[in-house]
Amino acid sequence: MRIDLSLEDFLALPDTEKVPYIGDRGILYAQQFTRADLDRYNQLADAARSLARRPEGASYLASLLRHRMALNFFVQPSSRTFMSFNAAEAMLGLNRMSVRDPAISSMSKGESLVDSIRTFISYVDLIVMRHADDDAAATAFWTATRAHRRITLPDGSQVPVPIVSGGSGTTQHPTQALLDVYTLERSLRPVGGLDGKTLLLVGDLARGRTTRSLAFLMPEFRDVRLIFAAPEQYRMGQDVRDFLDARGVLWSEVDSLDAGIREADAIYLTRIQDEHDADRSHGSHVRAEDRFRFTLDHLDRMRPHAALLHPLPKRDEVDPAVDDVQDRRVAYWRQERNGMWMRVALLARLFRVDQALLDVAATR
Ligand code: NCD
Repeated sequence: MRIDLSLEDFLALPDTEKVPYIGDRGILYAQQFTRADLDRYNQLADAARSLARRPEGASYLASLLRHRMALNFFVQPSSRTFMSFNAAEAMLGLNRMSVRDPAISSMSKGESLVDSIRTFISYVDLIVMRHADDDAAATAFWTATRAHRRITLPDGSQVPVPIVSGGSGTTQHPTQALLDVYTLERSLRPVGGLDGKTLLLVGDLARGRTTRSLAFLMPEFRDVRLIFAAPEQYRMGQDVRDFLDARGVLWSEVDSLDAGIREADAIYLTRIQDEHDADRSHGSHVRAEDRFRFTLDHLDRMRPHAALLHPLPKRDEVDPAVDDVQDRRVAYWRQERNGMWMRVALLARLFRVDQALLDVAATR
């Protein structure tokens, strides 16, 4: 791999051209995964889930990475991603540190992100990060790639400290896309999985990094169709439409949840990402328009096998009454827990203990 590119030149590459540099030494973009990767991650997540059910299995998992130290560097609000990474790291025996508040780190003294990353990798073997800048994870990745420190993998190879994006700006949330695919495949298993299905994506698709990353994975599935339902000002970005067009994924737009619900095998709701509004007054939130709000009536109109997903946190775009109904189609709480198993899976793979994990799971 060429690492003589400057950081500026690396950042200037289109994301799809950065992908070959990443290999399996980090997770930055949904576009870096193939169908074989996705199937493997799903299999690993299932294996971790079943191992963790028994004390011997849990002890085995916790032995895999107990010599490693992780940093959870989350300088943007997070509950689920932060907690599920922490839980997944603990399950694999990783030691953990976190930086969550830039005001009490040297960043407040003016240290650059590049210098902060160089510092972090002096102490840790993995950085999971969430940052408001679209380029932050790529900056960290390239810094680690060109930095002094290497870790040794089980096969003896020496690699830079891996960087995992837990959400970068408004553009990417690749590990969320992995857990969403895992949830979709599991929920739609009785009807043959995600291949050939129609997904309705609803809400703020312009600044929703979850729906963007999920859309980037759809060319890996056979004949998946996407329907976008977003208010005019929050329509899906042109870059995603172009990406789908170039790969023959069919998509269409509708102007309400109702207009897509009968065709949908899965509905993916999102909140308005109003933290990006410059003029937002503190504590207030932009309300979802009624035509993009999910109510009990919509449950009646959903297909019998369909799944309802949401990356969470949710607000008024979901009627709270939906949580009180016992209905298997409401998948978002299972989706949240699936995130923890998927993060066990991707950490196992990053540190190349994935085959060992599968082998042991197969004997139990
Ligand atoms: C999402 C995010 O941070 O992008 N949350 C998450 O990680 N589950 C979605 C959101 O904040 O709306």
